[in-house]
Amino acid sequence: MGKKARLIINGKSYELPIITATDGNDAIDISRLREETGLITYDPGFGNSGSCISSISFMDGEKGVLRYRGIPIEQLAEQSSFVETSYLLINGELPTSEELSRFSLLLNDHSLVHEDMRHFFERFPRGAHPMGMLASMVNALRAFYPEIPERSEEDEINKTFARLLSKLRTLAAMSYRISMGFPVVYPSYFLSYCANFLNMMFDSTVRPYVIDDDMVQALNLFWILHADHEQNCSTSAVRLVGSARVNLYAAISAGISALWGPLHGGANQAVVEMLQAIHDNGGNVAPFIARAKDRTDPFLLMGFGHSVYKNYDPRGRIMKDMCHKFLAGHNVYDPLLDIAKRLEETVLSDPFFIDNGLYPNVDFYSGIVLRALGIPLDMFTVMFAIGRLPGWIAQWKESREDERGKLHRPRQVYCGYEERDYLPLGMRHAADRGDNSDALFRGKVRVRRTNAHSAVAIS
Ligand code: CMC
Repeated sequence: MGKKARLIINGKSYELPIITATDGNDAIDISRLREETGLITYDPGFGNSGSCISSISFMDGEKGVLRYRGIPIEQLAEQSSFVETSYLLINGELPTSEELSRFSLLLNDHSLVHEDMRHFFERFPRGAHPMGMLASMVNALRAFYPEIPERSEEDEINKTFARLLSKLRTLAAMSYRISMGFPVVYPSYFLSYCANFLNMMFDSTVRPYVIDDDMVQALNLFWILHADHEQNCSTSAVRLVGSARVNLYAAISAGISALWGPLHGGANQAVVEMLQAIHDNGGNVAPFIARAKDRTDPFLLMGFGHSVYKNYDPRGRIMKDMCHKFLAGHNVYDPLLDIAKRLEETVLSDPFFIDNGLYPNVDFYSGIVLRALGIPLDMFTVMFAIGRLPGWIAQWKESREDERGKLHRPRQVYCGYEERDYLPLGMRHAADRGDNSDALFRGKVRVRRTNAHSAVAIS
């Protein structure tokens, strides 16, 4: 018999099944909690709640572990390519060489975007952020390409995934070219996925782009490190929006919008802006660290901390290593790397950051790598989005195939007004508003605690 948890509320006992995980935290199944007890759970930020059962990626935040489909990120970073890793995430297994060739061919066949989509780009104002453009363009793809019907052949599904994987990369490069007023460069049959992207970004009739294998390798690694990360904010957005059965493009567009935020994927741009600000202020990291430690100051040290990792982010470690090797190998001197190293050293020996479990995350060194690849600052989060796409697709597919899957519809703990009457306009006076409304307007709602004697026991 499986393990159970016992929940005691006001002396009455309830048994809750425990779902056993292959690795990591087991879960108390509360799916019948409200029906049986009349209570719901409260977990702001969902740090204690499993929203799904998944077999795509695994992370252990305390030990700093990340695996895709069971394979450690370190091994994939060392031996795989981004295309192969995408296949692994979406299909669950590493491809044979024949499967990999077929997948690459499919990506190649679907790399062009409808010419009419260029007109969309041309109407965005100059200076529009590429993440906003990308989210809109991905949503617009549905107007040009069919969605996956409820019961589709596997071939049709794979074609749609390949279409999106390939076109997102083309759209990203196009958005940069058009924003700069440069002619669009089309994808080439003769180039690999990563080499194609660099070529679409930087090739020109007056200065042909020379593909550098180290750059291609660095980009492969950059995208592998971003390919999936369990139920993070953007992936949860993809699953939540997808649970309404919207088309794949709309769900991915929601993920791109979530990723844009500076606490999530937007951090890679914010890190470089912060390092630049330190540089422009004479290179002294101390005032920035002091601000980050000041609880009354909303300033955060970008690129540090993570909701799950309370140890060095394994992706951050690999990124840092790659950053050093790549810059040294290409004789690139970036003053921001010196500042980053100094900042990291100081932070890692400061009790505030140690006590709060704040270590460099994947975004801390990634921006310096992107700068060395020639990627402009406002494209950094777009680079994260291209990398995260196979993970979003895999998660969308898994949630669609999940027989337990339901429309995502969280509950809330309501702490607003009790029932009250509508007051006609002429009878309303701000001065008459009671404490409750005042608290509400300032966002200081009171949570009423029950004094019931409750306990949870695992048997
Ligand atoms: N600088 C200063 N203080 C921080 C930072 C930071 N970067 N990160 C967390 N803290 C504080 C936080 O405010 C909290 O203080 P208090 O206990 O007084 O409320 C304490 O440290 C513990 O924080 P936490 O609970 O470990 O972190 P969290 O889950 O609230 O937030 C985070 C996680 C990623 C939003 C946050 O660490 C952060 O804003 N970091 C900077 C932005 C960043 O680099 N984001 C990229 C994350 S990795 C890429 C991705 O997967 O999205």
